[in-house]
Amino acid sequence: MTKQISFSESKLLPAIGQGTWYMGENAAQRMDEVNALRAGIDLGLRLIDTAEMYADGEAEKVVGEAISGRRDEVFLVSKVYPWNASGQQAIAACEASLKRLKTDYLDLYLLHWRGDIPPQDTVSVMQQLIEHGKIRCWGVSNLDYADMQELWNTAGGRGCATNQVLYHLASRGIEHDLLPWCQQQHMPVMAYCPLAQAGRLRSGLMNHPALNELANRKGVSVAQLLLAWVIHHDGVMAIPKAGSVAHVKENAAALEIALSQEEIALMEKAFPAPGRKTPLDMV
Ligand SMILES: NC(=O)c1ccc[n+]([C@@H]2O[C@H](COP(=O)([O-])OP(=O)(O)OC[C@H]3O[C@@H](n4cnc5c(N)ncnc54)[C@H](OP(=O)(O)O)[C@@H]3O)[C@@H](O)[C@H]2O)c1
Repeated sequence: MTKQISFSESKLLPAIGQGTWYMGENAAQRMDEVNALRAGIDLGLRLIDTAEMYADGEAEKVVGEAISGRRDEVFLVSKVYPWNASGQQAIAACEASLKRLKTDYLDLYLLHWRGDIPPQDTVSVMQQLIEHGKIRCWGVSNLDYADMQELWNTAGGRGCATNQVLYHLASRGIEHDLLPWCQQQHMPVMAYCPLAQAGRLRSGLMNHPALNELANRKGVSVAQLLLAWVIHHDGVMAIPKAGSVAHVKENAAALEIALSQEEIALMEKAFPAPGRKTPLDMV
């Protein structure tokens, strides 16, 4: 059965969504990107993750084009720069994102990473945006365990719907404290760079002999193994970015790949967790 994740009571989403970083940077690729996102929606990858930062707003415009006429089918996530994450600036940033996305609401709005603005101010403006109907729920990104504790002890902080963090087989630091804590709170975690940017973040990952051998045995690709490994964790979803329909199809098919305990153990032996607290990995 396809694994599903919920950010709010009502909407269950398949545990693989679609990332958009680097989209909108090259006019020649724009149509391929729009088509890839549309194919992803057709295949059930309904969560689309973007940010005001990506290509300076151009990625949001690509998404706007892809979801035109089918807004209700998607769960739209965007992110606010830390320096915009309070007061009128946050409201203006959100409205600018909505304009580029050609929609009147976001399903989820995230603080992109922690900056100098006190958490209380960000929580307050997120609540205001919900009251004004501009966003349905809010969350954070790149917050490590200690930052999450601070947020949890901030008035209204427990309204946080998710933490979006870097997580892939070769970067498992969150398993020490952040992931178990989020699981305890029943807070879904969104894993970004689930493919380690096609191995760019960890050379040797995509052609590791143990992964190649397992992928061949199962008749899948290493990328699919990596996605299946991320989403087998309780409450974790993956948001791979794919710029082609072929990659989107492959990623969507990973939703149906079941990994046995032995297969998981084999993958984790090749890429062990650090076994101690390490600072949250980020890009
Ligand atoms: N919150 C944050 O700070 C943060 C930071 C980074 C990323 N993110 C979000 O997370 C998303 C995913 O992260 P990411 O884009 O950095 O890295 P990623 O998803 O790990 O990797 C993307 C790369 O993998 C390739 N790829 C996709 N599907 C593939 C497949 N089936 N086989 C082989 N290669 C495949 C893509 O190539 P093609 O493009 O050619 O398909 C692209 O080069 C981002 O797009 C963004 O939405 C958030």
